[in-house]
Amino acid sequence: MTKVFSRNRLLAAALGLVLTRMAYCSVSAPGIPTVAQYFGTKARYEELNPRLLRDILSVNRSVLNPPPAARCTPIHLTAVIRHGSRFPTVKNIRRIQKLHELVVREAAGSGDWLREIKSGWDMWYTEDMDGQLVEKGRLDLRTLAKRLSLLFPSLLSQEELQQSRIRFLTSSKHRCVSSMEAFQQGLQEQWGGPDVQFQHEVNDELMRFFERCRGYVDGVEKNRTALQEVEKFKGGEEMEGVRRRMGERLGLPHHRLTPDLVEAAFFLCSYEFSIRSLHSPWCFLFDEEDAKVLEYKSDLKQYWKRGHGHAINSRSSCPLFHHIFNTLEEAGRAHRSGEPLSESASIQLGHAETLLPLLSLLGLYKDPAPPTARNYHTQHGRSFRSGRIVPYAANLLFVLYDCRQGPRLQLLLNEAPLRFPGLEEDAPPYEAVRDAYRHLLQGCDSHSECEVKPGRRTNTEL
Ligand SMILES: *[C@@H]1O[C@H](CO)[C@@H](O)[C@H](O)[C@H]1NC(C)=O
Ligand SMILES: *[C@@H]1O[C@H](CO)[C@@H](O)[C@H](O)[C@H]1NC(C)=O
Repeated sequence: MTKVFSRNRLLAAALGLVLTRMAYCSVSAPGIPTVAQYFGTKARYEELNPRLLRDILSVNRSVLNPPPAARCTPIHLTAVIRHGSRFPTVKNIRRIQKLHELVVREAAGSGDWLREIKSGWDMWYTEDMDGQLVEKGRLDLRTLAKRLSLLFPSLLSQEELQQSRIRFLTSSKHRCVSSMEAFQQGLQEQWGGPDVQFQHEVNDELMRFFERCRGYVDGVEKNRTALQEVEKFKGGEEMEGVRRRMGERLGLPHHRLTPDLVEAAFFLCSYEFSIRSLHSPWCFLFDEEDAKVLEYKSDLKQYWKRGHGHAINSRSSCPLFHHIFNTLEEAGRAHRSGEPLSESASIQLGHAETLLPLLSLLGLYKDPAPPTARNYHTQHGRSFRSGRIVPYAANLLFVLYDCRQGPRLQLLLNEAPLRFPGLEEDAPPYEAVRDAYRHLLQGCDSHSECEVKPGRRTNTEL
């Protein structure tokens, strides 16, 4: 069961700062906006794992659960991790600025929160912040590193590092490199003692495969019809309702609000929360129903742009898939032949855009019906909710065990067990996983997947 290893009150302190702002709020927990469950890829990791709000270093050891009779010990860990909380990108900073100017100039509503926006809220985002990792994002990765080294003390150890058996790979993006440095700092702090020398390799071929896959770039990224469900939903009745209600709350004619500005306001609420732990007055523009619609809009986009929507989305991650399984094979082979393992752990830093295609390739989070512009009302129970899958600091772990009767493999997403589709155990025999993915292990060739004529491979996988 949950074992409490140490206490960290940083977050509690940050939340304390915002308690004074709560007088007029309806909140689900102190300082947490009710709508925070629906922030999608801009959700905090803590919304998924609320125990971390009490103790950021709490680790649940019972998530590692191969059958006791199999007598397993972990021998290798591959972790694919999303960067931590970050600033908005330039595009969204500009939208936020436009929204702020419009509200200050023209909104005639009478809410206390609106007075607060007008008199007390500074447009403090500047374009140079462009998507960079924030302090909270560093904390996300530092504490994740500490929890993982508590969960895998034999794999993420100082000794393994000194033997050069921990490999660190990252996307070239600033927020990922900064996240890697924060992760390494977390390991250092956890291990204590003199400073150790960390290094990392930049590898966009593995961590940003999507931009190198021509079939994907031409067939989806640059292809407006590939995302037509998103465009339709943006102009549909659910979004129209959100826009109308937001206009009413602000006291603004609703034609002054474009769908982009509506979304900018929701993002602003999420950024103020994930960056500054603030329950911002901007959050009062939305109730829970509005937030569900906006969450759906962003899930639609992830589904059609990164998930099961088009086969090429997931096929573009073939290089990463093969890299991971080659690493696992090599670890298994070395272990069997009694050689020292060349890698006890492989830490790989990337993006939501790295994780979603890979999870889709593995056949995960595939609901019976695809989300479309028209079926919002039947999709409430969907498993594909990006805030549950890829919040900031999301992490997919492949844990290879040595067991009495051959190796086993377990998957964890965000520190909870996740089953391979069709397999009955949390940590099935490695051979069973190999069988399940035989078609990918023997195919999934990035050249033939990606270098085809646009359109041929983008048929939907429904
Ligand atoms: C710990 O993990 C186990 C196995 O996944 C789960 O059943 C249990 O609810 C978790 N405990 C907590 C406190 O999260
Ligand atoms: C764009 O996407 C549509 C819908 O998925 C597809 O039918 C079409 O072939 C794609 N166009 C290109 C140039 O790939």
